[in-house]
Amino acid sequence: MEEGETTLILEGATPSILPTPTEIDEHFGRGPGSKGLREVFHNPAMSGNRTRSVLLLHHILSSSSLPEGKIRVLDGLGASGIRSRRWLTELPSQMSNRLDIHVCDILPESLFWVEKNVEKFHPDLPLKLIQGDLRTRVLDGGWHWIDLDPYGSPIPFIDPVIQALSRDAILEVSATDTAALTGSSKGPTMRRYGAFVRTDQWAHDSGLRVLMANVARTAARHDRAIMPLLSVWESHHMRVSVSVKRSKQGASAVEKNIGWRVVNPTREELESSIEAGLHSHGCPECSQPFCFLPFRHPIDHHDRRVSGPLWTGPLASSEALSSFDPDLAEKLCVPDTASLSAWGFPSDEHESLIENSRRSVHRAIHRFSEEAKVAPNSSLLIVDRLHPYIPLNGPPSPTKLAEALTENGHPSCVASYPNPAILTSAPWTLIHDLALEVSTATPQT
Ligand SMILES: C[S@@+](CC[C@H](N)C(=O)[O-])C[C@H]1O[C@@H](n2cnc3c(N)ncnc32)[C@H](O)[C@@H]1O
Repeated sequence: MEEGETTLILEGATPSILPTPTEIDEHFGRGPGSKGLREVFHNPAMSGNRTRSVLLLHHILSSSSLPEGKIRVLDGLGASGIRSRRWLTELPSQMSNRLDIHVCDILPESLFWVEKNVEKFHPDLPLKLIQGDLRTRVLDGGWHWIDLDPYGSPIPFIDPVIQALSRDAILEVSATDTAALTGSSKGPTMRRYGAFVRTDQWAHDSGLRVLMANVARTAARHDRAIMPLLSVWESHHMRVSVSVKRSKQGASAVEKNIGWRVVNPTREELESSIEAGLHSHGCPECSQPFCFLPFRHPIDHHDRRVSGPLWTGPLASSEALSSFDPDLAEKLCVPDTASLSAWGFPSDEHESLIENSRRSVHRAIHRFSEEAKVAPNSSLLIVDRLHPYIPLNGPPSPTKLAEALTENGHPSCVASYPNPAILTSAPWTLIHDLALEVSTATPQT
């Protein structure tokens, strides 16, 4: 394989050389990537995804979630290996020394570029390469951490990957088939994920929950229980990160967290949701935007108000969210000028490279520290969907509504969701009254 012309790039605090794309792609950096233009896949729009992966690994290694000693990590669909190199270069050495990282890719070209980068920037990094189809190569087993970052849907990989996890492990799963997960391609939603999803403003939250339910049910089939650590929808992709433990009892209890979302629920549906512990807002007699129903609640599959089956439990853990500390993120994922010089970046670009890295790192974890403070079973309330359930003239400011609910004893926050929304577990009557108060006090423009 020939190296040819290369481009030097920086992501987080890690440099890479990649083959220079052969043609200009007007979507470069925004869309699903540049496959076909480079001989190795690289999508700069996934930098936040990789930054969160570095920080989540830092959190897990700081806690006692995984066994002591060496941690076997598999970057399952590794491409240029940028994620693995970020783990190894950005984590403090007492953590990175514990990692036994393998990069798997089906294409020899991808692994050629992993090797090129290791040779050029970090010849001492102990990265191991596995060429072949992840679905067979993963079965060596005993992995404490697997990252799954496919083109499109992760479904073909989830089953073999779960079987290959160690007793206590972490699994991160990305999906770029958002049209399927959000119900806008109904055939693939049912075919791949066994679900139907209403295409409304909650569709991306439902998509994350459908993905989580698929991971949970696959894990359960192999006597494993999951606990969500993080769930993120960002531009063209969704990603769930979970801890997976071998436990027959936990696996049998999977049904507790699987169910349905019903918009515009009836009083009877609200009562069932409250009784099942799925609706912290209470007030079954009040009309409300949506509720979750347990898996065994009778569902009319032609009822267009319904999405599911989906995960009805929390989508993240407060401990994981609060570990995404902005100061720590800067310390780990923003380079210094000495390193930039050593890697060959021109000195007149250092300032802007450092600033771009800093901004990108903050964007990757925006609002996580606030979300860590709200109850894990909080609902996503989209403010311009509060009317007609609350007689508002216009949507209230999410910031003001979240602040008012918090001041009234129910910690709430603006959600890191692209539609203006809050996360809250407050009683519906309080949400109702404060939304009216806040929107009356906020002049409508
Ligand atoms: C979306 S890219 C991964 C991007 C990478 N994780 C990153 O952060 O830059 C998907 C990669 O999976 C590889 N791939 C596709 N099918 C595979 C399979 N069955 N087994 C192993 N690798 C596969 C492709 O060659 C490609 O490099």
